[in-house]
Amino acid sequence: MSISFEGQVAIVTGAGGGLGRSHALELARRGAKVVVNDLGGAMDGTGGSSEAAEKVVSEIKESGGEAISNGGSVSDRNGAKSMVEDAMSAWGRVDVLINNAGILRDKSFSKIELDDFQIVVDVHLMGAVYCTHAVWPIMREQNYGRILMTTSPTGLYGNFGQTNYGAAKLAQVGFMNSLKIEGAKNNVYTNTIAPIAATRMTESLIPEEVQSKLAPESVTPAALFLVSEDAPNGVIMQAEGGRFSVASIVENTGAKLGADATPEDIASNFDMISDLQGAKPKGMMQINLS
Ligand code: NAI
Repeated sequence: MSISFEGQVAIVTGAGGGLGRSHALELARRGAKVVVNDLGGAMDGTGGSSEAAEKVVSEIKESGGEAISNGGSVSDRNGAKSMVEDAMSAWGRVDVLINNAGILRDKSFSKIELDDFQIVVDVHLMGAVYCTHAVWPIMREQNYGRILMTTSPTGLYGNFGQTNYGAAKLAQVGFMNSLKIEGAKNNVYTNTIAPIAATRMTESLIPEEVQSKLAPESVTPAALFLVSEDAPNGVIMQAEGGRFSVASIVENTGAKLGADATPEDIASNFDMISDLQGAKPKGMMQINLS
C-alpha cells in the first residue's frame, strides 16, 4: 500500500522550519501542492519574516514539487484566511490542513504574566481554530478533508513551567473531539499528533547525543498517515524517534453509590472510584444513569 497526495492541496502552518518543514517537504514529495505558511518569528513569537517559508518553497520547487509561501500569522484571523485564499486561488481546493505553528513562553505559573499566557493560547489554540474555520466550509463542500492538530506530551501529561502551553495544547484535543463528530458525515476527519523531535524548540532540552535520533523526519510518517485518505478519525498519535503509539482519554466503570451519596461516601470509596484498571475510551458524550 502506498500513500499518495497526488492531485491534493495541503496547507502546513509554521512550515518554515522544524516539524512543519519536514511535513511540507514530504507532502510535496508525495505529490501534494503545498502552501508553506510561516510567520518567521523568534521562538517566543516576536518578529517575523517571509524568508523561512520562501526557503522551504524553493527546496520543494528544486525537487520538482509545487508550493507557494504564505507569511501570515495563524493567530490573526485575516492571516489564517489568507493562506486558505492563497491555496484556493492557486489550485482551487484544500484537502489537508496541518495545524503545526507554535511558540513558547515558558514560565512557572507564579511568575507568568497573563500576556504570556494569552499569546500562547492565541497561537496554538486560536491559530488552529482560525485556520480550521477557514478551510471547514471548503472541505465540507468537497466532501473531503483531513485536518491535523499538533498537541504535545505537555498537553497530555503536564510539565513544569508550561501551564500556558499545556492548556493550549490539550485544548486542541478537545477541539478535535467535537470536530471529528461534526465532520464525519462529509468525510472530513480530524486527528492529533503528539510529537517529540529535535528542533529549535527543544534544542536546549534534548541532549546533543540524542538529537540525531529525534529528527523531525521521524515524526512526519505519522503526520502523513493521519492526513491521508486512509486516516482514522479522532486519534491522538504519539511519535518520537521511530516509536509510534496512541494516547487516549479513558473512563473506568466507577462505583454506584446512589444519588444520596455524601462527600464521606466518596472519600471512603475513592480507591474504587479512581481504579483505572479496565478503563476504556468512550464514544460520544453520554450520561449513564442505568
Ligand atoms: P519550530 O519552532 O521549529 O516550529 C514552529 C514554527 O511555527 C516556526 O517556524 C515559527 O516561525 C512558526 N510560527 C510561530 N508562530 C506562528 C504564527 N503565529 N503563525 C505562523 N507561523 C508561526 O518548532 P517545532 O518543534 O517544529 O514545533 C512544531 C509544532 O510541534 C509546534 O506546535 C510545537 O508546539 C509542537 N511540538 C513540538 C515538540 C518537539 O519536540 N519539537 C513537542 C511537542 C509539540
